[in-house]
Amino acid sequence: MTRVFSGDVAGYYAKYRRGYPPQAVDALRDVFELGPDDVVLDLGCGTGQLALPLAAGVRSVIGMDPEPDMLRLAGEAAAERGVDNATWILGGDRDVPALRALLGRNSLAMAVIGNAIHWMRHDELFDALVPLLRPGGGIAVAANGTPLWLQENSWSPALRAGLERYFGTGLAPSCGTLPQERDRYRQALRTAGLTEVREIVVEYTNELTLEQLVGGVLSAVPADRLPAPADRPAFTEHVRQCLPAGQDTFPEHVRVAVLTARA
Ligand SMILES: C[S@@+](CC[C@H](N)C(=O)[O-])C[C@H]1O[C@@H](n2cnc3c(N)ncnc32)[C@H](O)[C@@H]1O
Repeated sequence: MTRVFSGDVAGYYAKYRRGYPPQAVDALRDVFELGPDDVVLDLGCGTGQLALPLAAGVRSVIGMDPEPDMLRLAGEAAAERGVDNATWILGGDRDVPALRALLGRNSLAMAVIGNAIHWMRHDELFDALVPLLRPGGGIAVAANGTPLWLQENSWSPALRAGLERYFGTGLAPSCGTLPQERDRYRQALRTAGLTEVREIVVEYTNELTLEQLVGGVLSAVPADRLPAPADRPAFTEHVRQCLPAGQDTFPEHVRVAVLTARA
């Protein structure tokens, strides 16, 4: 298996990938009525973008991810923030049945999947998760905005063209954020027997510096395509040249959409 998020990519992810707005995290707490006895699973947790803020107010968070470098940085971020109720487990969607053997039925208040569902066999995953959920608990599928090169703004199309030139390949249009993909997940949640399928939407605007923009791009480049460290200044310059001239910051509109469904 290619380790897409390994090495420096994990470092860029931890440093530059946007976190989730507090309103989205609070809305998850409300929908599933999360409380101090609850255990939450963040599957495909990355460097802890959801697991860490969710840890406050529940008994325990399990962050599970197949990439050891992402998990290591999640653990470091937890230590830095004083989060002491998170457990990091190396594993992916296909390991959820084994998790069921460990935790038992009705043990989870919520399983959340953030920007990662497109890596998983979602139908089988939802079926495997349902017996784990406590009454009133459920599954959340989060999309944290649109990739930088696919946004509708003044600079994103130029960024996309520049990245396609640099890497010599078209950029995949999908990462679980497109409306038709969201419809598929919505339907799959219903098919798995979940009810009250809803969508939480939080929108905000943000200004990215060139460093943040380049860091965000590099957090999404597969590890085996990442420019070598010595080539990164030239990569940054390439990106700068692609972007509209005379701008120090690059505005983006971020739309966070979280499907929720209850057991
Ligand atoms: C784009 S990151 C998302 C990280 C974080 N959840 C977020 O919302 O920013 C995708 C994560 O999914 C993980 N992943 C890839 N394949 C997976 C699988 N089959 N099961 C679980 N996680 C997977 C990757 O290792 C990576 O950490």
